[in-house]
Amino acid sequence: MLAVPEDGYDLVVVANRLPVDVSLGDDGEPTWTRSPGGLVTALAPVMANADGAWVGWGGAPGLTLDPFEVDGTQLIPVTLSADDVERYYEGFSNDTLWPLYHDVIAPPAFHRQWWEAYRRVNRRFAEAAAQQAARGATVWVHDYQLQLVPSMLRELRPDVRIGYFHHIPFPPLEIFAQLPWRKAVVEGLLGADLIGFQRGGDAANFVRIVRRLTDLTTRGQIITIDDENGRPARHVRAAAFPISIDSAAFDALARTEAVQKRALEIRHELGDPTVLLLGVDRLDYTKGIRHRIKAYGELLEDGRLSPSETTLVQVASPSRENVGAYAQLRDEVELLVGRINGDFGQVGHAPVQYLHQSFPMEEMAALYLAADVMLVTALRDGMNLVAKEYAAARSDERGALVLSEFTGAADELSGAILVNPHDIDGMKDAITYAAHLDPREARKRMRRLRRRVLGHDVNAWSREFLAVLTAVPPRESHV
Ligand code: G6P
Repeated sequence: MLAVPEDGYDLVVVANRLPVDVSLGDDGEPTWTRSPGGLVTALAPVMANADGAWVGWGGAPGLTLDPFEVDGTQLIPVTLSADDVERYYEGFSNDTLWPLYHDVIAPPAFHRQWWEAYRRVNRRFAEAAAQQAARGATVWVHDYQLQLVPSMLRELRPDVRIGYFHHIPFPPLEIFAQLPWRKAVVEGLLGADLIGFQRGGDAANFVRIVRRLTDLTTRGQIITIDDENGRPARHVRAAAFPISIDSAAFDALARTEAVQKRALEIRHELGDPTVLLLGVDRLDYTKGIRHRIKAYGELLEDGRLSPSETTLVQVASPSRENVGAYAQLRDEVELLVGRINGDFGQVGHAPVQYLHQSFPMEEMAALYLAADVMLVTALRDGMNLVAKEYAAARSDERGALVLSEFTGAADELSGAILVNPHDIDGMKDAITYAAHLDPREARKRMRRLRRRVLGHDVNAWSREFLAVLTAVPPRESHV
């Protein structure tokens, strides 16, 4: 057990990344940019309204920084050495857990040294959180990189309430069981009072895994943890809390004159295509980018879309470039794009505009507004916030969303045109349908999308999660 700090925080978020990536300038002064990915997109607005601390990594190996404040949130940097980055982050998190939890689209690698690093780094995060939390505080741990933190933190600080949210899919037992350290991971998570998942199916997978891998009893969403004498000591709840975005802010951003103007400019710069298709993803093999581009290439080849009047803009933001599967994916995507542009391009017009870059939110909003068809064709995705951002941006009630059935968003967004991204012919039909969608039908669908996205935003998500978590009786009564 650890001493309770005098001036701790009532809410502490623990995530692998801080909301900003920090780098040191030539003068030794830190500068920062927004971190990539859905987790930060969702959590940044939640923390902006709370007086809390955020424990996380600054994004560069070996960087040791004192706590600092950004937008009213106290950021507590955790140092990862080059070896930690290689084994805990690139290795166990992104070459073992990530592929395992995404339907083994890529083969997961199992290395005992990576597991050791994962345990060591999880302990460091748990210790940092324990040092920041006030007595009886709420600590909210995030995502697959930190699954051991709940139980490690409970040992250090039995007085705090612990929530954990899993942003990515939780796989079925038949896949999860491959993990040599499966029981330790489940026990790590069970240190929490509340475990949140994106979909009901993820929560059900977890509860079934608990039943099969432990002797604990479960009833619906509730798992009962026994004390040393075999008597019930506390309960853990595992339930779905689908995440969202700051919908109103995104809607407002997309309505600004600057963004509206930029959207028109983008279409113009692309040669005013009749149909503008858009994909926006981290360059990740789970996102189905190759399947999407293949379907598009075939549509040009079949003449169902005109190469001179159609453009696909594919934003693929750089991600996890030191992991082999990502480097290989980049080569494959770039080969495919080059082929299509070579076969179907003309002087001054390329049917695929491929951008291996990250863009600020304003530019993203303008791209969403400019696009006739948004393609979200992930092979597996916990939620996919790009789909929600597209709907939030379209206050003009135009545009169409082609959405993979294998995203969490598909459970909620009934206004989308759903596809199985493995079925290339089916995807080609859906893209053609979306590209020629009757404006009345498009409006009907977009209204349904917007009702859901604007009606359930990220603040509702965090409120619902924290309300269930804070309903847990204070720890003092248990210890
Ligand atoms: C997904 C994960 C996040 C992760 C993000 C970016 O959204 O759920 O936990 O932070 O991808 O990936 P990276 O490896 O760059 O943090």
